[in-house]
Amino acid sequence: MKDKNVTVIVGCHWGDEGKGRAAFFESKDASIVVRSTGGNNAGHTIVYKGKKYAMHLIPGGIIRKNVLSIIGPGVVVDTDVLIDEIKMLKEAGINITPDKLAISGRAHLILPYHKDLDRLQEVLKGDAKVGTTGRGIGPAYADKTNRIGIRAYDLLLPEEEIYAKVELAVEVHNRLFKAVSGFEECVVNPKEIVNKLVENAKVLREFIVNTDKIISKALENNDKIVIEGAQAYRLDIDHGDYPMVTSSSPNTSGTLSGIGIGPRYVDKVIGVTKAYCSRVGNGPFFTEEDNEIGDIIRKLGHEYGTTTGRPRRCGWLDCVILKSAKTTMGIDYLCLNHLDTIGKIGNTIGEVKVCIAYEYLNKVITYIPDDIEITLLKPTPIYETIKGGWRVNPKCKSYDDLPIKAKQFIELVEKYSGLPVKYIGFGADNKDTIVR
Ligand code: IMO
Ligand code: MG
Repeated sequence: MKDKNVTVIVGCHWGDEGKGRAAFFESKDASIVVRSTGGNNAGHTIVYKGKKYAMHLIPGGIIRKNVLSIIGPGVVVDTDVLIDEIKMLKEAGINITPDKLAISGRAHLILPYHKDLDRLQEVLKGDAKVGTTGRGIGPAYADKTNRIGIRAYDLLLPEEEIYAKVELAVEVHNRLFKAVSGFEECVVNPKEIVNKLVENAKVLREFIVNTDKIISKALENNDKIVIEGAQAYRLDIDHGDYPMVTSSSPNTSGTLSGIGIGPRYVDKVIGVTKAYCSRVGNGPFFTEEDNEIGDIIRKLGHEYGTTTGRPRRCGWLDCVILKSAKTTMGIDYLCLNHLDTIGKIGNTIGEVKVCIAYEYLNKVITYIPDDIEITLLKPTPIYETIKGGWRVNPKCKSYDDLPIKAKQFIELVEKYSGLPVKYIGFGADNKDTIVR
């Protein structure tokens, strides 16, 4: 009997690769879907049976009838956002009951002052700002690490006990808010926070449980679990472009740790990538086209943030990053999205490029140099080019149905990433997926 039934979905570049869609696709025969890292800095769009769902916290598998969605201990939860998301799903006709949604009591909460702190830190950093989503992610994780965070379990406590925890948590922050000009009005009144928590607890308390019990049982029964990773390899706090990263560990191990599943249960790790690259916020992006080519990619790929609406920086697919993600993230297969879009880009621009190596310090390299701040040299991408573009037939069912140039593109990606492309997305809808 197969004793590994966990699928992990992770992002290979800087997010927005289509992880939500890949996880939803994989969840068709799953019992449980999980979000285990990040918070509502994620924006995962799913199009299913003609309906579009823009998700930020709850894993997309919630849309399916017999799947339990879990928000794991590694997630930071903004309770206002979660309540809005539950409401949105209910309005879309999805039943949200405790046998459909479970929130780990150990998940930490994002509170309004975390969003103010996020803003404040960006202001203090000036030109060195990260370009965060402003959702309070970093400050919430910082409070967690400082062991003054407020957890979902705290929502189940009597009011005076919540008050004591919040009072302790905001003491240091209030000193900072008082000291920085323009932020005086952000000084936190613990009572207001507690009132909000007590109010939100009324809606959420039925979902707050010990998710470990559910996960252990599912692993013992060999039920399929899909983990919908958030953020991506280059945004990882340890392995990404520090300091231009998020505050969690969206690599595969971090994603597993965020729910509490040991690696021995993993059946497959799917790395999700687009057929081009995009990045929101600041930080290195060697294949960026900060010009009319980037504008064309943005327009054809609809590259505007689901979470913030910000226009994304756009450029060519970077296979050096994919190659490095293969080992750091332990990826088995790639899911390559936007194969239709890159074909359109080729038709518009006259060519499609794939970065296969960098030139750096007068050498050709196929690893990510993490010392560029020391050398002050930016690696120059080396490309392979396919002339022209292609059109993917929206009715296509298999790899064989794809145009020759689209196949050539996929072969290039496989050659230079060292990874098999097993899933191909050629449209926004869940059904626009080829499995090889
Ligand atoms: P999904 O799951 C794209 C980026 C932000 C910023 C940096 C730090 O949809 O792929 P944060 O608010 O996390 O402190 O911001 O990380 N970022 C994302 N970019 N997709 C995401 O998630 C992201 N989550 C964080 O833009 O550069
Ligand atoms: Mg996103």
